[in-house]
Amino acid sequence: MIHSQQVLKRFSEAASAYDGAARLQQAMAWRLAKLCQRAAIPKGLWVDLGSGTGRLADALESCHPGQRVLRLDGSEAMLSRQPGAWTLKHDLSDGLPDWSPAPQLLASSFALHWLPDPARELQRWITALPNQGWLALAVPIAGSFPQWRQAANRSNQVCSAFTLPQREELVKAIAPGVIDCEECLNFTQRAQRPVDLLKPMTTIGASITDNGRLTAGGWRQLLKAWPRERSSSAFALTWRMLVLMVRR
Ligand SMILES: C[S@@+](CC[C@H](N)C(=O)[O-])C[C@H]1O[C@@H](n2cnc3c(N)ncnc32)[C@H](O)[C@@H]1O
Repeated sequence: MIHSQQVLKRFSEAASAYDGAARLQQAMAWRLAKLCQRAAIPKGLWVDLGSGTGRLADALESCHPGQRVLRLDGSEAMLSRQPGAWTLKHDLSDGLPDWSPAPQLLASSFALHWLPDPARELQRWITALPNQGWLALAVPIAGSFPQWRQAANRSNQVCSAFTLPQREELVKAIAPGVIDCEECLNFTQRAQRPVDLLKPMTTIGASITDNGRLTAGGWRQLLKAWPRERSSSAFALTWRMLVLMVRR
């Protein structure tokens, strides 16, 4: 298992380049913020868990004038990209801080899967909410990257993508009757060269692997075996995202 400190070190090293390459993260932040706008969440403590450079917190504040959002992350370098913002350095693998009063909104995008036991942490996050408090979550799940896995099979190399949680495992961790909205969405990125599909992951610090490493030769073979998309004849990489709105 990858230790949180390794994950945080990699994200810290990538903090200055993060915003330039995190296009999918930016789009997802706005999608979550719009879902929150429809939900009429009570004012109070709102927190962006694993905020990184604050993409989601910024979108939430834009959609909810007057509401400040606490940006919590384990990486000081990520937090320091947001001068003047309300931030807290905290390692989420230690659970949540004790907040009193409890947060009315816990929001998180592209962060839960980096924690050692995502289903357990999700359960803890929901338990930390008061009655009628909200969780807004976007997380990549198993079923992502079918093209990467196909290229790995074809070239007889390992697929070194980070292990993502199963949708069923996450949903099972949530008490019955509290899910307000659940979406499973596919996002496909396209490029003229397979390597350009993986570069943004490296740039933003998300290329950590718990599934073995490839040699330079192994990478060459894998990239050569990447399938072309029939419809566009470009190379593609598909993310499967679970988007959840939970009202406790
Ligand atoms: C892919 S970035 C997502 C950032 C932001 N939520 C976004 O959508 O742009 C993942 C973030 O989770 C943070 N993170 C990973 N493990 C963490 C942990 N154990 N505790 C706190 N933050 C963590 C990283 O530092 C990084 O900023």
